[in-house]
Amino acid sequence: MRVKMATNGERASGAQTKAGKDGGRLRLAIAGFGTVGSAVARILIEQGAASPFELSYILNRRIAKKRVEWMPTSVRWTEEIDEVLDSDIDVLVELVGGLNPAGTWVRRALASGKSVVTANKELIAAEGVELSELACRHRQHLAYGASVAGGVPVLSGLQEGLAGDELVSVSGILNGTCNYILTRMEQAGISFADALVEAQRAGFAEADPSADVDGSDARAKITILSRVALGADVALDTVLCRSIRAVSAVDLRYAAELGCTIRQISHAEVKEDGLHIAVQPMLVERGLPHAGVVGPQNIVVSTGRYGGEATFSGNGAGGGPTAVAVVSDLIALARLGTTSSESMSPTLRKMVTSKEFVMPHYTRYLVRDRPGILAAISQVLATYAINVDAVLQLPGHSREALPFAITLEPSNQQALDAAMAEIGKLHFLVQPPLCLPILRKRA
Ligand SMILES: NC(=O)c1ccc[n+]([C@@H]2O[C@H](COP(=O)([O-])OP(=O)(O)OC[C@H]3O[C@@H](n4cnc5c(N)ncnc54)[C@H](OP(=O)(O)O)[C@@H]3O)[C@@H](O)[C@H]2O)c1
Repeated sequence: MRVKMATNGERASGAQTKAGKDGGRLRLAIAGFGTVGSAVARILIEQGAASPFELSYILNRRIAKKRVEWMPTSVRWTEEIDEVLDSDIDVLVELVGGLNPAGTWVRRALASGKSVVTANKELIAAEGVELSELACRHRQHLAYGASVAGGVPVLSGLQEGLAGDELVSVSGILNGTCNYILTRMEQAGISFADALVEAQRAGFAEADPSADVDGSDARAKITILSRVALGADVALDTVLCRSIRAVSAVDLRYAAELGCTIRQISHAEVKEDGLHIAVQPMLVERGLPHAGVVGPQNIVVSTGRYGGEATFSGNGAGGGPTAVAVVSDLIALARLGTTSSESMSPTLRKMVTSKEFVMPHYTRYLVRDRPGILAAISQVLATYAINVDAVLQLPGHSREALPFAITLEPSNQQALDAAMAEIGKLHFLVQPPLCLPILRKRA
């Protein structure tokens, strides 16, 4: 089943460029003159006289600090959203981010007959369904092509380019910060903490990196992708989300021994019992497209019932690439005109998330060495009917903190969680065990 959602203004094929309410150029206000907002403004201004847009307002707090000399004098700077929403603009370009006040502004804009283009994954993941319905009720557009994978046109590619297929799964690397950190840990053999500091120095991680490394940023994106690609309406807080903080350099060494690397993978798949959806670090077999993605790049791989796999990759963040996605949404919207002539309300299935993942797993234990450790762990695994595949132990570690790995045959996620909780209580463990699914090439 394919969904009908407005990701980039719903391009009508062959449609001529339409314009604002009075037949002139589309009048825009940019709310949020930060990394993306200023990059969008630059592109619009550099389009010159041929542009189908007229940038009317820039809204930001403390505008005195924001003003730039390259902004034409015709553009009005303001700190007041009322001034923007009471004006004759056609489109609010929301680039403030977060749920509030962005959500309130978007709702007010749609209700007052203005279309909205946004890059706000947090807002769209949490409230996108209701906002699309609101846009539909007011015959306006809500476009958010920049909210997933920045400059990679994945939402429009899935929604339009693959409209003829029935997509059954979508997976990818959706967080460049995690990918940069894991790549550096692998390349330089450094710890998570050191790779994080490097990422912060290189500008790829925030001072507070939690949203990235603990998975909530990617969780928002896979929720949006599931909606657009799979037609699945799933509650954000039911999506399994695991941090990459527990991954250590030794895990990347063991992964290499197993012909794999480690990546933060976001995955959603329609199964008979519901939607399998998760964001977590996984071992990824070399040769899979995800394994070749290094540094802050993004990738999305979709699988369709008729067409098989399609891959989208590129710069998932940054002012320039994200601004391109925003302007592309605006161009699509200019082609359509500002008033929606057809239902833009998504046709979605409410789906429950299933915890019945059955996958092979990598487990790693850090122990104080003593006899009987393997027997004790194997006994717990056997209690939960989990079969061991292989045991790995690399030399050169202290007996007081000895890491070794056990790979497991495909096993049920819930049984595995219970087994790991039990193993975590064994007195010889220095820290809780790490348990990562292994993504292998399909046979
Ligand atoms: N940056 C990326 O690579 C990227 C990629 C994909 C999607 N996005 C999304 O794009 C949106 C914008 O991101 P960004 O990186 O451009 O963020 P940013 O650099 O922090 O810019 C946000 C701007 O909004 C202003 N702002 C924040 N709260 C405000 C308020 N209450 N009233 C008025 N102005 C306010 C900020 O002003 P101050 O300077 O005073 O704080 C800042 O100028 C977010 O939704 C983000 O998730 C970003």
